Amino acid sequence: MGPGCDRGVLFIVKASAPGKIILFGEHAVVYGRPALAVPITQVHADVEVLTSSRAGIWIDAPDINLRAELNTLPSDHPIASVIHNFLFLSRVSPFPNLEIKITSTIPVASGLGSGAAVTVALARALSSHLNHFMTDEEVNAFAYEIEKLHHGTPSGIDNTVVTYAKPVYFIKGQPIETFKVGQPFTIVIGDTGILAPTKESVADVRRLWMNDKSRWESVFDKIGEISFTARRAIEAGRSEILGELMNENHALLQKLTVSSPELDRFVEAARNAGATGAKLSGGGRGGNMIALVKPEGSEAVASALISAGAKRTLSTTVS
Ligand code: PMV
Repeated sequence: MGPGCDRGVLFIVKASAPGKIILFGEHAVVYGRPALAVPITQVHADVEVLTSSRAGIWIDAPDINLRAELNTLPSDHPIASVIHNFLFLSRVSPFPNLEIKITSTIPVASGLGSGAAVTVALARALSSHLNHFMTDEEVNAFAYEIEKLHHGTPSGIDNTVVTYAKPVYFIKGQPIETFKVGQPFTIVIGDTGILAPTKESVADVRRLWMNDKSRWESVFDKIGEISFTARRAIEAGRSEILGELMNENHALLQKLTVSSPELDRFVEAARNAGATGAKLSGGGRGGNMIALVKPEGSEAVASALISAGAKRTLSTTVS
């Protein structure tokens, strides 16, 4: 049984996976530079798999109003594709009769890793229920294949953080490196509520890069150095310098054209309300931003973000 799984009576298996947030290094990570991301355990995707007396594989995902038998869904449906790929990989035959219940408190398409979390929880619950053991490495590789189906050329950072549920210093194609947080620190996450497909901002950055590689490579280098410095600071418990690093990283993301008026407004509002630094997080153009705060200052920053138009905020301690 993988982490987060719990086989109970009546062949019910449960698994869950956390959300995630990128602290530093988005976009540059697609070009081989390091990025830092951490799990957000307040939000999670949960999957229950039960043996069913009804024929077929029934999916119940009330959050997205989905109640359907697997074969009635298009094969590229995000949930159906996970199940089809899993059944193919595990060579289960004949297909079992199952009820699969999926719930998630992770906001969708906003950079909190909801897709990766559903995939990881689903893979773990199915693997446990069908006695097809998977290591974390295998779950991660599986989730990466699914990310590729839906997101074009993802770096793999989302599935990695969500699978290992630990702070990760991520370099594409290299063995996973988790790291310790020397002193806990608090961030406030502000959601613009704007759905912005990461695939598009990644494609736009690629167009920029194709037109002037040396210019953008040097921007990626600077972002990579920020991630490197931030990791050292976090490990040494010197989170006070992370705010300045966030500000620098945000300015470089603006250059890459992946910020937006709303994200810039939120970043400004957070700084004015006492955050030591702030930046967009994830693909950009919409989705989320993050602000580094003193624990006692998190409410003031959260309410400044709401006044600036944030749909929701989340305060979390990274430890
Ligand atoms: O939008 P998110 O949180 O899934 O993050 C995307 C991060 C990028 O670096 C822009 C893309 C990637 O695949 O790493």
